Amino acid sequence: MLSYQGPFSPRRLPENVAMNTSETGPGRMDPVRIDVATPSRAYAVTIADGALDRIGPLLDDLRVPARRFVVSSPLVWRLHGPRLSRSIDATPPILVPDGERFKHLATVTRIYDALVQANADRASAVITFGGGVIGDMAGFAAATYLRGIAVVHVPTTLLAQVDSAIGGKVGVNHPSGKNMIGAFHQPHAVIVDPAVLGTLPRREFRAGLYEVIKYGMTSSPGLFDRIARERKAIFARTPEALTPVIAESCRIKSSVVSADEREAGPRMILNFGHTAGHALEAVTKYRQYRHGEAVAYGMLVAAQLAATRGALAELNRQALADLVASLGPLPPIGDVSAGQLIEAMAHDKKIVAGRLRFVLPTDIGATTIVDDVTEGEIRSALKRVGFRT
Ligand SMILES: NC(=O)c1ccc[n+]([C@@H]2O[C@H](COP(=O)([O-])OP(=O)(O)OC[C@H]3O[C@@H](n4cnc5c(N)ncnc54)[C@H](O)[C@@H]3O)[C@@H](O)[C@H]2O)c1
Ligand SMILES: [Zn+2]
Repeated sequence: MLSYQGPFSPRRLPENVAMNTSETGPGRMDPVRIDVATPSRAYAVTIADGALDRIGPLLDDLRVPARRFVVSSPLVWRLHGPRLSRSIDATPPILVPDGERFKHLATVTRIYDALVQANADRASAVITFGGGVIGDMAGFAAATYLRGIAVVHVPTTLLAQVDSAIGGKVGVNHPSGKNMIGAFHQPHAVIVDPAVLGTLPRREFRAGLYEVIKYGMTSSPGLFDRIARERKAIFARTPEALTPVIAESCRIKSSVVSADEREAGPRMILNFGHTAGHALEAVTKYRQYRHGEAVAYGMLVAAQLAATRGALAELNRQALADLVASLGPLPPIGDVSAGQLIEAMAHDKKIVAGRLRFVLPTDIGATTIVDDVTEGEIRSALKRVGFRT
C-alpha cells in the first residue's frame, strides 16, 4: 500500500495498468498514476518502482505506437539499458551524448539520421531514456521529425522525473542562449521508475531536490514538511521515501501545466527561484552550478525579498533557508556580484512590457506574482543572501 495520505494523494492506476502483484512482492510500492490534461493532449504519468522491467507492457497499455525507438546516452544505457531492453522490442538504442554542452541542433541531427536510417514513420514513437538533456533533445527530434511523431519520456534524473518530463517543453540551446530553439510537444506518456535514481551522483540528486523544495514552497506545505521529516530516507533513495515525493511533485507540475499549457499565466509560479537562479547560471556561464543549485540561491533571494517587504513571515523565510541548508552546503557564491546578477536579470524572459516579474512566496505553499520590485530591493536581497556589492 502506498503510505502517503497527504491532501493531494494521487490517484491509483486503473486495474489494467496496475502491476502484477505476484511480481510486486513485499516492500514494493503500488504504482501511482497522475493525469495531465492539456488542450493538445491528455496523458498519464505513471510512477512505479520497477517500471523499467515492464516498460513494454506498460507502453502497450498506454496505447503507445508499436514501433519504438529508444534515445539514450551511453552512460544511462550502460547503467540501466539492460533492464529496459529486456522488456521492450530490442531495436538497438540511438545513443547520443547528454552533457549540456551537447544540447544543440547537431546532436538532434544525429537522432534524425538514425530515425531516417531505421525508416521510422508516423506510426513510430521515440522513447527518451535519460535526464532532462536527453528528454529535451529527443523530444525536440520527435516534435519535428515528419512534423511530429509520438514521444514517451522515461526520465532517469530526479530533475527530469519531477520537472522536465512533464509539460511538453522540448528544445535545444543556441550559442546565444539556453533553450532558444524549441517547441511544445506533449508526450503520449511519462513513465517514472524511482529505482533508477540509485545510480545518480549525489550532487545531481540534490540538484533535483531543490526543485522539489520549490514545489513545496509554492504549492504544498505537506511536501515541504515531508522533505524535512524524511530527509534521511529520501537521501537513502528508498522507493518508499521517494515515490510520494516524486508523485506529489508530478501532481503539482501536472496540475499547473494542465491549467496553463503555454505558460501564459499560472505556470509562471513554477518560476519561483528562477529569476535570480537563471541570472546566476548565465553569469557563471552554466559551468559553476547545477540548475537546481542556482534555483536554490534564487529561492533564498526571492524569499528574502518577500520577507523584507513584509509579504512573507520571517519565520517562514528561515524555514526555507533551513530546509535548503539541511540538504548540505551549496557551491559557494564566489565573487559573483549583485550588480552582475541585476544586469543578467535585465535580459530575463520573464520581462513583460519592460517589467521584471517576480514570484514571491507569501507562506509555505503560497505565492504571489509582482512586477513592481525595485532594483534597490533586489540589490539588498542579493546582499543579504551573500552576494558581494
Ligand atoms: N523541458 C522542461 O520543461 C525542462 C524543465 C527543467 C529543465 N529542463 C532541462 O533539463 C536539463 C537538465 O536536466 P538534468 O538535470 O536531468 O541533467 P542531464 O540530463 O544533463 O543529466 C545529468 C547527468 O546525470 C547523468 N544521468 C542521468 N541519469 C542517470 C542515472 N540514473 N544514474 C547516473 N547518472 C545519470 C547524465 O548522464 C548526466 O551526466 C537542462 O538542459 C534543462 O534546460 C527542461
Ligand atoms: Zn527549474
